[in-house]
Amino acid sequence: MTNFEEPKIVPIRTIIDERGCLGFVEAQDDAGFLFRRLYFLYGVTEDAARGAHAHKALRQFMIAMHGAFTITLQGKGKEYVFHLKNQQEGLLIPPGYWRDLSGFTNDAVCLVAASEKYSEDDYIRNYDDFIAWEGRHS
Ligand code: TYD
Repeated sequence: MTNFEEPKIVPIRTIIDERGCLGFVEAQDDAGFLFRRLYFLYGVTEDAARGAHAHKALRQFMIAMHGAFTITLQGKGKEYVFHLKNQQEGLLIPPGYWRDLSGFTNDAVCLVAASEKYSEDDYIRNYDDFIAWEGRHS
């Protein structure tokens, strides 16, 4: 990876008045990339482990729309742990990070905006393969 990009929390602009709350994300301005796909996880059992993969090129912007969960990212020799638990912040995940998602509350809804359509070719699903891939791309 020539550009060193770290995952980061981005505040979600939110309009609050007596009628309730309206949060919004403008792809390029807030996430820094355009979205080609939305997907969402829900009904995830508390002991389920999701993720366990990395993406070679995909960029993602992740929001806990409801409930809470934990995402651990590993890459470039660092580990980051994010506990996503509200609609006022999103997590930017650059390409090249191994991710593990866990600790879903029963009511958790995880929304992901992704830069590309689904492609299995973009996944690295074996951790040793990820470490080898990282070595070739550092
Ligand atoms: P996966 O990304 O492995 O889910 P998680 O990391 O949350 O455990 O995807 C699970 C399955 O769903 C896998 O067979 C690929 C498929 N899938 C799609 O068909 N389209 C999509 O947009 C996504 C994210 C997954």
